[in-house]
Amino acid sequence: MMTLSLWKFGLLLISLIGANGLMPFPENFVVAKLNDAVTLTCRTNIDGAVTWKFDGEVLVDFKYNIKQDGQNLHVTDVDTPWLGEYSCWRGGEMLSLTHLLLEAEDEEELAQFDSLITCLAKSYHCNFSCTLKESAFTAVRVGLGHDCTDGGKLCHWINSSDQNQDGGFQFEVSHSLSPYAEESTKLELTAEAIVDLYVFRTTRRFYLRDIVQPDSPQIGTCQELEQDLNVTIEPPSSWSMPHSFFGLEHEIEYVLKDDGKPARSLSSLVPKSISKLRVRSRDSLVLSTWSEWTPWKNVTN
Ligand SMILES: *[C@@H]1O[C@H](CO)[C@@H](O)[C@H](O)[C@H]1NC(C)=O
Ligand SMILES: *[C@@H]1O[C@H](CO)[C@@H](O)[C@H](O)[C@H]1NC(C)=O
Ligand SMILES: *[C@@H]1O[C@H](CO)[C@@H](O)[C@H](O)[C@H]1NC(C)=O
Repeated sequence: MMTLSLWKFGLLLISLIGANGLMPFPENFVVAKLNDAVTLTCRTNIDGAVTWKFDGEVLVDFKYNIKQDGQNLHVTDVDTPWLGEYSCWRGGEMLSLTHLLLEAEDEEELAQFDSLITCLAKSYHCNFSCTLKESAFTAVRVGLGHDCTDGGKLCHWINSSDQNQDGGFQFEVSHSLSPYAEESTKLELTAEAIVDLYVFRTTRRFYLRDIVQPDSPQIGTCQELEQDLNVTIEPPSSWSMPHSFFGLEHEIEYVLKDDGKPARSLSSLVPKSISKLRVRSRDSLVLSTWSEWTPWKNVTN
């Protein structure tokens, strides 16, 4: 059997077929573990003889581990040669189509898959986004909640909404947490991805507050005081309202005119003799990840 260990050499991280771009998850598929036995069902309401095809070839001489039983097909001892597309036919009509895929079980590779995923929230309201870095995966989906953790039928899977400039996948995930309540239960996010004929699955649990990263703030006016400049900073428009409840703290980085040296201030006051400044913000209560810096703003006075 062809092992997955090839990927330890980084195959997972390079784009082979992934470059072809977005592909939806197949509508019907069965995920088996290595050496499992599975039954593939021909989805038809009409009784009668059917023919099965595997990757387009009619299954006539049944392999020792593939047996037709009425309209269904039993596959025992699942291994790489038996992965692929199974279709069920009557005459010239295809009745149903199923993909038989193998569950990736190598812990190291699953950890590598998990490490490709980043989730960030710009506020405590409504939604956050997750991205999967560019990789060989051709189809990716995520789902929130316990129904998705075990791949249950009730899971509301979210397809990728977009492909990043760098070829990764992006997801917008809605949640129904109240932004005003103390968050006591973790969110549970499951991601599934297909590469070749393998299915990767990972679940992570986190508090929304742990993935908060505000957008960059806006630099308002600089008011000249006797000694200092008082810099007004506006929260980013994507940040949760009211701002009195969802506090942000800001950090200013500035460059001194005389020696060109950079320095930072956590107050809104900076020396007068500066040539430029930029600002970033974070949630002041949970000390979230800092936002990106604003662009430099030149200061003339
Ligand atoms: C995601 O794509 C599948 C087809 O691959 C489709 O059946 C499903 O409805 C889509 N889900 C959403 C939320 O758009
Ligand atoms: C949240 O949803 C709004 C509106 O649907 C959208 O404009 C925004 O980009 C989303 N934000 C995130 C972080 O997903
Ligand atoms: C700086 O400006 C803010 C808002 O404009 C104001 O509330 C604050 O009192 C000012 N700080 C000083 C030291 O003047």
